[in-house]
Amino acid sequence: MGARIEGIGAYTPSRRMSNDELAEFLDTSDEWIRSHTGIGYRHVASDDEAASDLGAQAAKVALDRSGTDPESIDMVLVATASSDYVGFPSTACIVQNMIGAKNAAAMDIGVGCTGFVYGLETAKGFIASGAADRVLLIGSEVLTRIVDWTDRSTCVLFGDGAGAAVISPSSNGRGILDSVLKADGSGASYLAREVGGTRAPFKLGHSAERDLLIKMEGQSVYNFAVPAIIEVIQQILDRNRLTIDDIAYIVPHQANRRIIEAAAKRARIPTEKFYLNIEEYANTSAATIPIALNELYERDKVADGDLLITVGFGAGLTFGGNLLKW
Ligand code: ACO
Repeated sequence: MGARIEGIGAYTPSRRMSNDELAEFLDTSDEWIRSHTGIGYRHVASDDEAASDLGAQAAKVALDRSGTDPESIDMVLVATASSDYVGFPSTACIVQNMIGAKNAAAMDIGVGCTGFVYGLETAKGFIASGAADRVLLIGSEVLTRIVDWTDRSTCVLFGDGAGAAVISPSSNGRGILDSVLKADGSGASYLAREVGGTRAPFKLGHSAERDLLIKMEGQSVYNFAVPAIIEVIQQILDRNRLTIDDIAYIVPHQANRRIIEAAAKRARIPTEKFYLNIEEYANTSAATIPIALNELYERDKVADGDLLITVGFGAGLTFGGNLLKW
């Protein structure tokens, strides 16, 4: 039994922050951010919105489009690096209650920006085993609440948003055809929130507040990401006996336009094969891939039967990709 995306949806907060706005309180410029990252704007959640709120909004779109009754969902998966609460309860449980998926099990997927890629294969596994018939997979992030707004090398990169997919059984050869899932924990320190967990609990008077926030070794992440993207794409093409000409679009995690351009150049893939919308949304971690898939769908850029490759990389370190037949 295969599994396919039956409905896709997305939600991004209406508040749109430009690079020029950042330059009002940070030593940066629209020119620097655009030339080093490709980012022009990011969307910012309102004070009363958490990851579950954005995720539930995206989920409603995906449920509506697929004509799915929330009560028929067997599993809610939320991929997030900015969960409502630290550790528990899971954001998936909050979403499950919000959307009335009262017959569903619920759990979070914590693999940073590769969350939606891991989630697609996880959903497929539940469906193939018979443990679930319909899975709701969400990538949702409110990263603007966990960035250090005084650190110009990280805060300019991130934004908020959510994407969701209803995944259901497929027997006609369409759907999630293959996945490559990888991890390299030796790079765990490259992207971390160092304080607030059991390794280094927050201690009033001892912990610096900024250590609760995202810290990143930008250059190390960059150096890891470029070969990771190439490796995943090549592995998917090779083991499915495909060439890049068979692929309609590669939908990459949108972290930095320069990372994609460097990978495209090194792998001799035209940059236009990569679907990019980082200019509008910046890096929304586990949400970038479903937001981009939703945009492809809404703009009629994918037809039934088209082959797509998703490719993600992020904290952990983790990386991977999926081959999808739309
Ligand atoms: N505005 C102006 N100047 C800046 C800014 C900014 N926003 N940020 C850094 N600079 C300065 C630095 O201070 C440095 O100045 P100096 O030379 O006087 O010391 C100079 O720009 C160059 O800094 P670098 O860090 O070398 O800049 P680089 O070209 O490497 O770009 C960047 C930095 C954009 C962070 C890049 O390394 C990158 O994209 N890395 C990958 C990041 C990433 O993908 N993260 C997320 C992936 S995983 C996930 O999504 C969770």
